[in-house]
Amino acid sequence: MIVEQGRYLILQGKGISYILRIHEQGYLLHVYYGRKLRENDFPYFPSAPRSFYTFAPDQVFLEGESQEYPAFGYNDLKEGAVEVLADGKIAALSLKYKSHEISDGKPAIDGLPSSKANGVACQTLAVTLSDDAYGVEVRLLYTVFEDSDVIARHAEIRNSGKGALRLTRAFSCCLDATGMRGSETDMISLRGAWAKERNLERHSLFQGVSEIGNRTGESGHYLNPFAALCGRATTSDYGDALGAMLVYSGNHRFRVDVDAYDNIRLACGIHDGGFAWDLAPGETFRTPECLLCFSWQGLDGMSQAYHDFLRAHILPQRFRSSFRPVLINSWESMYFDFDEEKILEVARQAKQSGIELFVLDDGWFGKRNDDTTSLGDWYPNPEKLPSGVAGLAEKINALGLKFGIWVEPEMANPVSELLKAHPDFPIACKAHPPVLGRNQQVLDLTDPRVVEFIGKFLDELLSCGKISYIKWDMNRSMAEVTEPGFVHRYYLGLYKILGDITEKYPDVLFEGCSGGGGRFDAGMLCYHPQIWTSDDSDAIERLRIQEGTALCYPLSAMGAHVTACPNHQVWRTTPFSTRANVASFGTFGYELNVARLSEEEKAEVKAQIAAYRKIEPLIREGDFAVLHSAFARGNFTAWQVTSKDKKRAVVLCVRTLASANAAGERVRLRGLNPDALYTEARSGRNYYGDELMYRGFFPSVPSTDFASVLTEFVEESEETNR
Ligand code: GLA
Repeated sequence: MIVEQGRYLILQGKGISYILRIHEQGYLLHVYYGRKLRENDFPYFPSAPRSFYTFAPDQVFLEGESQEYPAFGYNDLKEGAVEVLADGKIAALSLKYKSHEISDGKPAIDGLPSSKANGVACQTLAVTLSDDAYGVEVRLLYTVFEDSDVIARHAEIRNSGKGALRLTRAFSCCLDATGMRGSETDMISLRGAWAKERNLERHSLFQGVSEIGNRTGESGHYLNPFAALCGRATTSDYGDALGAMLVYSGNHRFRVDVDAYDNIRLACGIHDGGFAWDLAPGETFRTPECLLCFSWQGLDGMSQAYHDFLRAHILPQRFRSSFRPVLINSWESMYFDFDEEKILEVARQAKQSGIELFVLDDGWFGKRNDDTTSLGDWYPNPEKLPSGVAGLAEKINALGLKFGIWVEPEMANPVSELLKAHPDFPIACKAHPPVLGRNQQVLDLTDPRVVEFIGKFLDELLSCGKISYIKWDMNRSMAEVTEPGFVHRYYLGLYKILGDITEKYPDVLFEGCSGGGGRFDAGMLCYHPQIWTSDDSDAIERLRIQEGTALCYPLSAMGAHVTACPNHQVWRTTPFSTRANVASFGTFGYELNVARLSEEEKAEVKAQIAAYRKIEPLIREGDFAVLHSAFARGNFTAWQVTSKDKKRAVVLCVRTLASANAAGERVRLRGLNPDALYTEARSGRNYYGDELMYRGFFPSVPSTDFASVLTEFVEESEETNR
């Protein structure tokens, strides 16, 4: 999988090649990342001759070369991946090749979440570069997996000298996109805000910098730690796309530079604003992992490659192939207003409807009857839960349901016993009064006492053995950060807590959350196999949120609930069936009071769960495709998910607004076997795969507002064909 050929180091993935070259003067150059090339004996791409003046000491003008991990300021005046202060002065780094090694498997990154081999053959290349004059050593690690087109990269920077060093930038990855030209390339990012997370943003690159990032102390509602470059003509099923995703939940930055010669440099990693890291002699800093992905089959190809990779190498494997329980969450149906009797009434009805897990959301602890108090006081409110958490869990279990509970471990309200006893637990700049967000403060997870407190209360909560699920929330951004590098230290603390608790309770399903989807990233997915996608549960708004999220994150990672109407975020009324159909393209659940549903609706819930159970294996493992994008102008969205063996395809079509005299919507499927005969479950009609893909079918979505159709195409067995 990794081949050494003269000065070339060649990483061969499932369908991609990633090629590096060690220059005669010792620089590590990037040659290629793209569709798989054969290994051969001649130089892949001789460097383009340069006729202009160079100031490079070795007659190598690095600005004119593609580099793997450049530094600004010596012989390259483009933005670099690493910046170091030595004795308070900017180090003019000239990093040169020292050694490399190739090993089987995938090493973990100390203190940080990262991808795992999980039984799949993979190899890791580690190249060491060094600048002996400054005492800086950089180890670049690349893992290539047999089953994937994703390359996992990160860097380790070591103080190999005698003096103190300070890192002021340490990106995970820098990629000179050799196959792309700036003037022909678009950048795609996932932008948003609370209740409108991960909407697609696409713009043309230009000479200069296009950048996204977040400094709010979490991967963020605003800009997700993901970016893609694609050809101007790339669509969902055509063209090249190159993605970069961080396995990280803190501050991040993605920078795309286009230089005067139309060359593209993509660099990403921890946001260097407010970042600094001191390295004493012998100390090493490890960057988060970056997952690079290349597709020549359009954006769907990139999405599918990321989905496959995250499922196989990021998500906790114990939840990969098991059914996720269909849950009912108390938040939108009861908010803070509940007691044991009310909970049990909903749980009884839920059980009768086929729901499997009851989740008690916010409001069960301390004196919490609204959001002004008690975060940090993690003991049950005796008025609401007279038999405690364990007692309630037991009663829920006795009804035949699993029990889950909400926590927000990283926070405390100033009005809490915790902060009365430990006023120094939260982050505070001390120069000004504390900044509150949703009436709460962020605890300082760099403080080992805080880490211990959180670990202990979670352990006490879970030790009753009756809790099957935890919803881990985080409902405000960080402010008052005064120490450079603090946010990264915070995440080292958080990852330690998450690692310890999920290891101790491996069967408990954790769902991440941050004011909806404010921390939806591959770092969190290493611990939480699912994340609450957004607090906006309106089925129509969810079309964009879920489609944007699915650009790189698998459907099974997206918590998606059927909620009551009028919807609590936009006051829209949509058909019950559409709410269920859209939620079916995620990890399915309910967030409404089933006890208040009509008998007819209760029967519908049963049918919805049964339908979901049928398609769930595809949602968990299948190939997702966007047939009509929710972001395109128009009124119509269509998605498809297909089993790997191409024998089953589920198609969802949603009309947003009805319009008079509208043309019929023709939907063309993708990725089927052209010669196979498929039966559409709804109509019983037969179609060959080629007809469905090249000619399409008419889904006959009712011509009313917000109507939808969820249908399935199943390949006839050969028996039936004859
Ligand atoms: C956040 C979450 C919601 C809910 C509330 C509880 O907003 O996103 O789902 O848990 O907190 O306060």
